[in-house]
Amino acid sequence: MDITVELGERTYPILIRHNILPKIGEILEGLNLNPKIAVITNPTVGKLYSKIVLEALEKASFDPCLIQIPDGETAKSLEVCHLVYKELLNHKLERDSALIALGGGVVGDLAGFVAATYLRGVPYIQVPTTLLAQVDSSVGGKVAVNLPEGKNLIGAFYQPKMVIIDTDVLKTLPKREFNSGIAEVVKYGVIKDESLFKYLSNHESLIKTLDHDVLSYIVKTSCKIKAEIVSRDERDAKGIRMILNYGHTIGHAIEGASNYERYLHGEAVSIGMVCASQIAIKKGYLLKEDLDRQKQLLSSFNLPIRFSSDISIDKIMEVMEYDKKSNIGKIRFILPKRIGCVIIENNVSRDLVHEVLNGQRE
Ligand code: NAD
Ligand code: GLY
Repeated sequence: MDITVELGERTYPILIRHNILPKIGEILEGLNLNPKIAVITNPTVGKLYSKIVLEALEKASFDPCLIQIPDGETAKSLEVCHLVYKELLNHKLERDSALIALGGGVVGDLAGFVAATYLRGVPYIQVPTTLLAQVDSSVGGKVAVNLPEGKNLIGAFYQPKMVIIDTDVLKTLPKREFNSGIAEVVKYGVIKDESLFKYLSNHESLIKTLDHDVLSYIVKTSCKIKAEIVSRDERDAKGIRMILNYGHTIGHAIEGASNYERYLHGEAVSIGMVCASQIAIKKGYLLKEDLDRQKQLLSSFNLPIRFSSDISIDKIMEVMEYDKKSNIGKIRFILPKRIGCVIIENNVSRDLVHEVLNGQRE
């Protein structure tokens, strides 16, 4: 089953298969692209998968070039974009030449931003290789790079022409990165789909052994939820897409307060979901047993549910209030009412957030 992100003339498919990378050339043949094509990746992913992708493209008569950016979040910069623009010019890529983002969310966000801006916009294809990128960042067209002043401050909404997901590549992903992606899958369960949440709880060991059918199910179900939300609110302007930020208000702040060094994104979101649920309980929206179910599931994937005591609560509050999703004095949160249903609450007081953070410190 393929999934479609319905967006009028920007509609695109998400293909989820196992061992699809060797077929990428023939799949792209249908898109009417210039034979010159660029594969953007990093040395870690490139070493594992660029050969297979380049060979598949050549077999389908594409003329691919490989562009490598450094591994890690710091590569999401305007300086690295400039290097990529120069390589694209050197290789004479034109308006109808496509970029292929082969990697995790860092490669996807940067390559998507380059695609949005090079020659005022060229087509791009997302080939996500982390679980987080497969279930979240490759879908929905949010592309961005960071500034020294903050994350994702320069960006655009720019949809890919296609998302091609090969679940087999997850076999080489470090366990900690895999679990970080699981946090986002848990998020989809809490915001929209109790049966996905139960599925995760019931298939813990098969997920951990990367059972093909089980992985396909969780990736497809997550992409379906994201695709549906993005179709209804592409530019995050109607308050619908905002629910994807469940766990992210405090999660982002914890990442920022620890200089993006202590926690992976999904790990910080895991702590953020637990904190948001504590707030929901204190506001009388959520039953404690629904918080306990989340804590149990997250912990079973080694995800943290408390944050390190060496991160200052004042610093977390400061980052949160600087965040674009916050107003001084009151902070906006996505709060669960039960597993599978969330609400947007604009009026969470600083004092309540402070109290909950105090209780979630290690
Ligand atoms: P990442 O891209 O840094 O990848 C994590 C690590 O895994 C890297 O070292 C990478 O080289 C390695 N890796 C990737 N695929 C691999 C594979 N198959 N086998 C072995 N190693 C592999 O991290 P991420 O978690 O994928 O993405 C995080 C980024 O995504 C952040 O910059 C975040 O802002 C962004 N993001 C964007 C959106 C969006 O909607 N655009 C949503 C969520 C997160
Ligand atoms: N990752 C949040 C969004 O795509 O809106």
